[in-house]
Amino acid sequence: MQWNFQEIHQQAQTEAQAINSPQALEAFRLKYLGKKGLVAAVFASLGTADPSQKAAIGKGANDLRGLVEGLIAAKSAGISTAKVSGEQVDFSLPGTGEVLGHTHILTQTMQEIIAVFEQMGFVTIETPEIETEFNNFTGLNIPIDHPSRDAFDTFYLDAEDPSAQGRRLLLRSHTSPGQVRIMKQHKPPMAVIVPGRVYRPDAVDASHSFMFHQIEGLLVDEKVQFSELKGLLTEFCRRFFGPKVVMRFRPHFFPFTEPSAEVDINAEILGIQRKKWLEILGCGMVNPKVFEAVGYPKGKYKGFAFGMGVERMAMLKYGINDIRLFYENDARFLKQF
Ligand code: DAH
Repeated sequence: MQWNFQEIHQQAQTEAQAINSPQALEAFRLKYLGKKGLVAAVFASLGTADPSQKAAIGKGANDLRGLVEGLIAAKSAGISTAKVSGEQVDFSLPGTGEVLGHTHILTQTMQEIIAVFEQMGFVTIETPEIETEFNNFTGLNIPIDHPSRDAFDTFYLDAEDPSAQGRRLLLRSHTSPGQVRIMKQHKPPMAVIVPGRVYRPDAVDASHSFMFHQIEGLLVDEKVQFSELKGLLTEFCRRFFGPKVVMRFRPHFFPFTEPSAEVDINAEILGIQRKKWLEILGCGMVNPKVFEAVGYPKGKYKGFAFGMGVERMAMLKYGINDIRLFYENDARFLKQF
């Protein structure tokens, strides 16, 4: 298609002169700059244009756009005050822009982790942040003299547990009490994840906060093996961090799982310097004592569980080096994700 830009420019100028209302100005704008306008048509014609013509057509389209924008600006100043239903409206004033936000990077990370497990058949259940000592410790086989029960390591509320005389309610220090709650209410088979906030009276620094997020996983059935836990978590890490991820299962101890392991990922391969191996979660086969505590028949079920820190996963995936950034609500940080 041949374009006579000189003629088009003249025509636009003539048309602009005749504009005398905001409606006519808008019609003019649409004719040239709208989605189906002339500038778009000129650009679209580039696709079939003779290669020797392309540069000229591209320049012609850009010049036309510049010209029309200039004409509109000049015209809108002229007709900026018009009567609309008896009111003076100044059309030259800038509009009130909508600032669109988006979900917080921690919410995004939680949603991403949850999505991976839901694709693999897990169901998401949220349980309360205020817990009993039984659910947070005793039911999980954490002994009465365990240091994590100390008030230095757990926030106790000034409220007695209505289900246990003399025992105070607390802010859960991990999402594992979700396991106890869910098993007390439901019979296997089950595959659940429990996301949410947890609280510990830690001094705040680059890697500690008195509130952070965890995601707990629990799968219980009559026949469950450690190899299935390993396969599941390997697949999870591949989907979350990408297919190149290299991980290792390192023996560890948790009272509520036996045997237990911690999972590290290789930070070098993911391009995060600092240390070679970084711990991302704890896991293991559910300790039969936990099944006993929730009232399941002895020896009938097996299961595995795992728990991971959401902040840590986000820090590793997105190269964030200070946990405090998540909670400061500084838009310059949040906008990046
Ligand atoms: N609750 C543990 C913590 O906060 C994490 C954890 C370890 C959860 C092993 C589990 C598990 O379910 O099996 O450190």
